[in-house]
Amino acid sequence: MAAVSADIAPPALPAKVRVRDLRRRFALKQRSFEALAGVSIDIAPGEFLAIVGPSGCGKTTLLRIVAGLEQHSGGSVEIARDRDSSRPLNAMVFQQESIFPWMSVRDNAAFGLKARGISRQERYASVQPILEKAGLKGFEDALPHQLSGGMKQRVALARAFANDPEILLMDEPFAALDEQNKLILQAELLRIWEASGKTVLYVTHSIDEAILLADRVLVMSARPGRVKRLVDISRHFPRPREVSRVRSSPLYGELFAGIWAELRSEVLATAVEQRASGA
Ligand SMILES: Nc1ncnc2c1ncn2[C@@H]1O[C@H](COP(=O)(O)OP(=O)(O)OP(=O)(O)O)[C@@H](O)[C@H]1O
Ligand SMILES: [Mg+2]
Repeated sequence: MAAVSADIAPPALPAKVRVRDLRRRFALKQRSFEALAGVSIDIAPGEFLAIVGPSGCGKTTLLRIVAGLEQHSGGSVEIARDRDSSRPLNAMVFQQESIFPWMSVRDNAAFGLKARGISRQERYASVQPILEKAGLKGFEDALPHQLSGGMKQRVALARAFANDPEILLMDEPFAALDEQNKLILQAELLRIWEASGKTVLYVTHSIDEAILLADRVLVMSARPGRVKRLVDISRHFPRPREVSRVRSSPLYGELFAGIWAELRSEVLATAVEQRASGA
């Protein structure tokens, strides 16, 4: 698999996010187990890093530690802050719906700006172009119960971008969507992200999605999570990218097969472990 045979070195630029020997232990029923066992990676400023790995390998834990929502048991995470420190450091988009049911689309999107004390007029003006880019024009005053699942995820995306964080952390944001909505939102995410230049950590179970969206794909091992392989995608598919072109390229199939070969043994190892523990 020529396309995935070469691991790539950490970015030459100073890293935006530097993760070193990151460890996390959890206690479960008086036993302690390791969820992350020494993850090290440098993520460049503006890089889109996709993270794939079997269920339970620590992807969400890794994201939550980077977000500062979770403690780590060892190692370090360093984030190089931009000079303009009035911007939030990160924003997270979750798999489950995370918008407020009692707020309009516009107020949901502007929530982070309100929390920062920005006036109503100013925050509405700054979310409007983002709502339009996210395909929500005409729905600004709608309440979440009046929206489809895909539209709710668009609102969550719009809120994350409107917040203008330095780092976007996305945990399977489109996993609950149907295939067609997913296709549309992936293309829209690419478009919005390419214009924003943000550093993104994006967890997905989909190899397809990882190849379409990311600059590099981090393949994690079965629990305890480690970096198994880093696969360079941007070398093969420069920006701006068109989803349909990537999918129809012969290299796409080669990358897909290569990543799956790395992942397959980890998924099998997880299944064997679950059977042994009676899970
Ligand atoms: N707060 C917690 N307390 C105890 N164990 C936890 C806690 N959070 C996560 N874990 C365990 O840590 C391991 C990693 O969990 P995590 O949610 O990070 O996995 P994941 O890779 O995101 O899985 P999935 O793909 O299913 O979302 C799992 O075994 C999980 O049960
Ligand atoms: Mg998870």
